[in-house]
Amino acid sequence: MSKRNILILKAILHVVCIAPFFWLIRFYTSGALELDPDPVAYITHFTGNWALWILLASLAITPLRRLSPRFAWLIRFRRLIGLYAFFYASLHLATYVFLFSGYDLPAVLTSMRQGHPGRAVAEWKMVWPTIWDDVLKRRFIQVGFLAWLILLALAVTSPAFIMRAMGGKRWQGLHRLVYLAAFAAVIHYWWLVKTGVRTPWKVTAVLVILLLARTVYTAGKRFRKSRSVLQTTKD
Ligand code: HEM
Repeated sequence: MSKRNILILKAILHVVCIAPFFWLIRFYTSGALELDPDPVAYITHFTGNWALWILLASLAITPLRRLSPRFAWLIRFRRLIGLYAFFYASLHLATYVFLFSGYDLPAVLTSMRQGHPGRAVAEWKMVWPTIWDDVLKRRFIQVGFLAWLILLALAVTSPAFIMRAMGGKRWQGLHRLVYLAAFAAVIHYWWLVKTGVRTPWKVTAVLVILLLARTVYTAGKRFRKSRSVLQTTKD
């Protein structure tokens, strides 16, 4: 694929990935969000779902690329998609901290406009014990937080100069944790839904297929390697 086409595709991908965010902003500014019975839950679910689906899309790049050498260019989009997953996961976390936990964001914004930024810290001091309590007591929060921390580590180490500084092998080892992040995010989803609710089945099915594709590929590679070693010792 030519450099120009890669650039065009990257621009399209940016538009596709940022579209849900602008859609949400529009939904809020139009007043439509307020008509929802629970606007904060709506934003939490919206950002959580986009984070997870985009994360799964970034995981799909490698198996798709392996289908044929003609798809090698797909790798050029993996970092971009992964960073958008982190972006939505961070919005999701921010929703939890600043809207879900009782942090009075409108009051903080009003105080800031009036030149009293201290309210932001005062509110944080008020809500952080509740957040900490949640982290300690609710396992779905713990596993969600683990997923976010992994995505943070991957986002921070994603630039090429950090990859060079870390060395390819160490970098790759760290970036394999993306599977653990996806697994943790799916578990997070299962643990937060009520018993008997099966909504996370779609993301689970996609993750299982992606993990199977990876296992089959690795097993095939090992098999081919051992066969070629056997062949050379025979010769
Ligand atoms: C940073 C730590 C995280 C916290 C504190 C957190 C918190 C939450 C909360 C409070 C909910 C709503 C629970 C309810 O409805 O009662 C939720 C839902 C959800 N979260 Fe997270 N989350 C975190 C990380 C993540 C990450 C990293 C992902 C995905 C990559 C994710 C994906 C989801 C999904 C898919 C839902 C359910 C959406 C739905 O029901 O439609 N979360 N999360």
